[in-house]
Amino acid sequence: MVDLPQNEPANPSRRRLLQATGLAVGALTLPSLFQSAAAQAAPSNIILRAIPKSGEKIPAIGLGTFLTFDIKPGQPRDHLREILKRFYEGGGRVIDTSPLYGMSEVSVGDFATSLGITRDLFITNKTWATGQWLGDDSQALSQLQQSMERLWRDKIDVMQCHSLVNVPVIVKIFKEWKKEGRIRYFGVTHHELPYFGPLTQWVEKGELDFVQVHYSIHTRLAEERILPAALDKGVAVLVNMPFEKARLFKIVENQPLPGFAKEIGCKNWAQFFLKWVISHPAITAAIPATTNPDHQSENIGALRGPLPDQAMRTRMVKHMETIPGFDKLAEMPPYPGKTFVGVVKR
Ligand SMILES: NC(=O)c1ccc[n+]([C@@H]2O[C@H](COP(=O)([O-])OP(=O)(O)OC[C@H]3O[C@@H](n4cnc5c(N)ncnc54)[C@H](OP(=O)(O)O)[C@@H]3O)[C@@H](O)[C@H]2O)c1
Repeated sequence: MVDLPQNEPANPSRRRLLQATGLAVGALTLPSLFQSAAAQAAPSNIILRAIPKSGEKIPAIGLGTFLTFDIKPGQPRDHLREILKRFYEGGGRVIDTSPLYGMSEVSVGDFATSLGITRDLFITNKTWATGQWLGDDSQALSQLQQSMERLWRDKIDVMQCHSLVNVPVIVKIFKEWKKEGRIRYFGVTHHELPYFGPLTQWVEKGELDFVQVHYSIHTRLAEERILPAALDKGVAVLVNMPFEKARLFKIVENQPLPGFAKEIGCKNWAQFFLKWVISHPAITAAIPATTNPDHQSENIGALRGPLPDQAMRTRMVKHMETIPGFDKLAEMPPYPGKTFVGVVKR
């Protein structure tokens, strides 16, 4: 078996190997390098969740990269390396990205390789491209190849159909890729509530490995159909926007953490919101995003200590309902007070 050094940027031969062999050969000869590494390399005292279809365990707190990791090489971006370092050292392994997130894949690939952690990560990625006509998978394939090169990976752990675009065609392509060993799992994603119906129908078919959905202590609609269906059909669930794009923090900025939060090991609001999300039995991992290394330390802290039971979850919601503005959160603009400078914003 080919072995690769941990510190991959110093190993240009790997990229040359990928280019020289082409995607299909790479997929056939290298897949075992990344099998289950995420769970094997994680610390033992963290909250892990099993992927229902395989039993493979992954840490229940991941890292999102939309806007936050979209920074061009040459612009100040050392904080991203520190975020990734603290994430990894805290036990995080699941990273969610997309070719549609500007430079995010490039940032993840660069810093993961410079930290020497590439093969330990569990990468969840996306596509919605197909080709010029139905059944033409050329664009999807070249997008997958580009993602692998940007991420310095020979295999993507989870490939998701972004926002259900072109989903019947894309899912067929994913099934082929999984058979061929290019990806390990596949799923579909959305974050907008009007699409929860079609998202649920895809979960109910039972053929998906993963679904990614918006769920938070504020937006609990997924509890009605998607999460029960995921439990029933053995579909793993990734949670996007667990902080409501920072709006939850805006609402609690002058609010003390309730005393009872200590009972579930929460030291800050971030852990309060994240522990609430991952304590639902259907949830496999939440994928919060940040531009701030100290926030990353808070977020990854939610991987440790007790989780709320149902009575505590209800108490947490009731507490949030006493906080002014919680009932109007959906009307607030996303990412209050924040600016992003990457390709997506431009
Ligand atoms: N498939 C889909 O349809 C879809 C849609 C949306 C998102 N996603 C995925 O889900 C990920 C998460 O969603 P999101 O990024 O939109 O929103 P989010 O994770 O709910 O919120 C991110 C915001 O929360 C703030 N934040 C994070 N940790 C904090 C802390 N400890 N204290 C205070 N503020 C904190 C961040 O600000 P700071 O930078 O100041 O920390 C950032 O602005 C995305 O990055 C993406 O990977 C997928």
